[in-house]
Amino acid sequence: MSVRKAVIPAAGLGTRFLPATKAIPKEMLPIVDVPTIQYVVDEAIASGIEHVVLVTGRGKDALVDYFDRAPELEQFLAEKGKDDLLAMVRDIAEKCEVIAIRQKEPRGLGHAVLAARPAVGDEPFAVLLGDDIFDADPPCIRQLIDVFEARKQAVIALLEVSDAQTSAYGVIKGTPLAPGLHQVEGMVEKPAPGTAPSRLAIMGRYVLPPDIFPLIAATPPGKGGEIQLTDALDRLRAASGVIGCAFRGTRYDAGDKFGYLQANLEYALKRPDLAAKLRPYLRDLVGK
Ligand code: UTP
Repeated sequence: MSVRKAVIPAAGLGTRFLPATKAIPKEMLPIVDVPTIQYVVDEAIASGIEHVVLVTGRGKDALVDYFDRAPELEQFLAEKGKDDLLAMVRDIAEKCEVIAIRQKEPRGLGHAVLAARPAVGDEPFAVLLGDDIFDADPPCIRQLIDVFEARKQAVIALLEVSDAQTSAYGVIKGTPLAPGLHQVEGMVEKPAPGTAPSRLAIMGRYVLPPDIFPLIAATPPGKGGEIQLTDALDRLRAASGVIGCAFRGTRYDAGDKFGYLQANLEYALKRPDLAAKLRPYLRDLVGK
């Protein structure tokens, strides 16, 4: 069965980005002038996804508004003859069907994915974390969907990190299967320093069968008192197998201050209108 639906969890509190996230969802913070969430939805669309299920929470209505039509703004832009801006604003609402579901309490990533169950139903689906941006060709989630379709097992994105970074991620133990692919033999969420089974960390992209839902429902709170997707994935691995895919591309953690700054600088340097000013500015700045 082809992967038609994507779940984008975006209901977290974003405490690493306080005070901004007191009133603004972190997924709405812009990379240059485009909200993080737009990059994530664009990746899904470019990968063939037809339906996006956005998991939101209290204080996150701006995300839903962003993907809705904006009649007053559109009328204003039409009257002023700003046709390019009008087309851009309309396109956001029209290029993909976005369904919003509320996670009633932010009880963890696993819990957020489970909240999407009524909209996903009984079919395989993609998960793209709403604050992780991947710059990849083909898009990261497309790379995972290709592996899923070929091997009929759940697929998770992997990135090799340093020893010092392993305690910030879910980390796998695996055996090589093919170039860039690992058969996962175990996984642990945020291992204590020095205890990680490898340096292969799970990043924010997954392709999952619907069998994951009852496994999440049966998963007790884990690290940090949250219902961890990694814990449910480890059960899925034991039941039907999970493949790790070392994706080709670059990942930015836009929910982290440093990752957010990196993404802003690198995406700005790709924009001809900004790069011409920014590049010499950065050279001068670091030379000081
Ligand atoms: P994070 O752990 O990065 O999000 O979750 P957070 O909890 O909002 O961030 P900090 O650590 O407090 O700064 C990864 C993704 O999962 C979503 C987040 O919105 C983010 O996109 N998430 C997390 C949920 O949807 N629900 C949750 O209960 C937790």
